[in-house]
Amino acid sequence: MSAPTVLSWKTAAVAHRTAKLGRKVLVCAPFGRDAESVAALLAKEGYEAAVCRDLTDVASRLDDAVGALLLTEEALAPDPAPLTAALDAQEPWSDVPIVLLATPRATAASWPTEAVRLRLPERLTNVIVLERPLGAVSLVSGVASALKARQKQFEIRELIEEQRRAAQALDAQVKERTADLEQALHRLRTEMAERARAEDHLRQAQKMEAVGQLTGGIAHDFNNMLTGVMGSLDIIRRRIASGRLDDIDRFMEAATASAQRAANLTQRLLAFSRRQALDPKPLDVNVLIRSLGDLIKRSIGENVALALDLSDRLPLIVADANQLENAIINLVINARDAMPDGGELTVSTRAADGDPAGRGAGAAARGLVAITITDTGVGMDETTLAQVFEPFFTTKPIGQGTGLGLSMVYGFATQSGGKAEIRSAPGRGTSVAIHLPASDAEKVETAPANGETPSFHGAGESVLVVEDEPAVRQLLREVLEELGYETVEASDGQSALPILSSNRKLNLMISDVGLPGINGRQLAEEARRHRPDLPILLVTGYAEPAAGRTGFLGASMSLITKPFTLEIVAAKVREMLAHGKDRPLA
Ligand SMILES: Nc1ncnc2c1ncn2[C@@H]1O[C@H](COP(=O)(O)OP(=O)(O)OP(=O)(O)O)[C@@H](O)[C@H]1O
Ligand SMILES: [Mg+2]
Repeated sequence: MSAPTVLSWKTAAVAHRTAKLGRKVLVCAPFGRDAESVAALLAKEGYEAAVCRDLTDVASRLDDAVGALLLTEEALAPDPAPLTAALDAQEPWSDVPIVLLATPRATAASWPTEAVRLRLPERLTNVIVLERPLGAVSLVSGVASALKARQKQFEIRELIEEQRRAAQALDAQVKERTADLEQALHRLRTEMAERARAEDHLRQAQKMEAVGQLTGGIAHDFNNMLTGVMGSLDIIRRRIASGRLDDIDRFMEAATASAQRAANLTQRLLAFSRRQALDPKPLDVNVLIRSLGDLIKRSIGENVALALDLSDRLPLIVADANQLENAIINLVINARDAMPDGGELTVSTRAADGDPAGRGAGAAARGLVAITITDTGVGMDETTLAQVFEPFFTTKPIGQGTGLGLSMVYGFATQSGGKAEIRSAPGRGTSVAIHLPASDAEKVETAPANGETPSFHGAGESVLVVEDEPAVRQLLREVLEELGYETVEASDGQSALPILSSNRKLNLMISDVGLPGINGRQLAEEARRHRPDLPILLVTGYAEPAAGRTGFLGASMSLITKPFTLEIVAAKVREMLAHGKDRPLA
């Protein structure tokens, strides 16, 4: 072996010889002293060589610190199994290189090393075959390239390890982030739940406040009105007792006016709760507004100019004319109050689109008509605006506003199948729109002229009065008898049934709707079973929920609402009896 050759492979081998791992070479050469002399040679070159007895010994010592195996072909001959098993057991990155010293007889072949490879067990792939005899230089250089290849494997192992660590770090980071996010989410949920609870509390508190305001407001107003009625009645009684009948009319009028105000109040309350008995009919809004013109002008006074901006291409609408007038007057008065120094009030009508909640497709197709009352007054800030539809919300001084105007307008519009909308800004005026459903009717039904009630006397027709409230029942009986009718009374539906099924002469039944047990509507049905043509007049304090007027009333049935005046009852009874006249009595 010549020095320069040795030097050249030495330089190439420096890296793996100084490497920490993989400098160990397991040597297995069973015959003679081959193993010891190879080991000595390798040791001299700076490698760590370990002599193994056989392949089992090699297998048992094969670990990550081993850089290469140096085997003779004879060592493989008896049974390669222990070695192949050990090779199989290596980590995926590891394939320890083997330097195989071929048996000398192989040199006879023309491609001796190839012949050796063909004889090797299949598992042995990473093999450098060296022919024998061979010089020290070839041997050392073979071992050196095996160790170099092994270093590459260590590098790969390092890379894999690094990747694993990076993946782990990433995994940990992801986990940490996920945990953070989960925590944040949890916090958010808790906060949301807390907020919802707080909002619930607030809502509840606001509701209670509204209820308190409502009951307080009603009680206050009612007390005033009752004082008016009771005080007047008291004075009347004293005057009668002392025979001073001269200006008793004044007190009767005062009592009536107070009672009328109470009736208006309940009307507004029912309107707000959307339970007033509405009498929706096709009507022309423009006609209605023009007819209100004088009243509006009188309400707004001279400082405010009135402008009517009425669209002439409007369909008829379906609404209760009285309540619509009521709503418009309420809005006009609000507008006047908002313009203490004068201004302009505009009442306009427009065909509007939009599907009001709860209406069928038909109504949506027919559309809505908007009646808008606009003023140039003080306007409202957002806080006020948010509350104006609440009952008893008012910014007016005590005694000047009940706070029921807008809530009535809102309830009326909604109950009529439309909606109410309000726009306002401080200093920029206010505009309130009532949207009401258009009618498919072509023209307005003309109601039979009522005229003023001529003095009228019945001819002993028999009227069944079903009413659970004794005072009302008595009142009805007295007025009917005064008008020349005969009356039969029942305090509820149950006791009315035998009268209906008897042979007794009956020309009319008047029944309260809100009766205990069998209600007025059910009683009407029963009555019809016995007396198919009996006219029936129902009296109600408020509209039955979900019962539209048309669906609620059958043929020859009519409805009046409490509180009623005696003139109204008289006129209605007369009208119904006149209709029933042509029919044979049951
Ligand atoms: N056109 C308007 N301009 C400015 N503020 C208004 C207008 N209309 C209503 N408001 C405000 O809304 C509140 C409630 O109005 P709403 O008509 O319900 O009750 P009210 O007018 O105070 O009393 P009521 O109508 O029962 O006599 C008013 O007190 C007022 O603050
Ligand atoms: Mg008002």
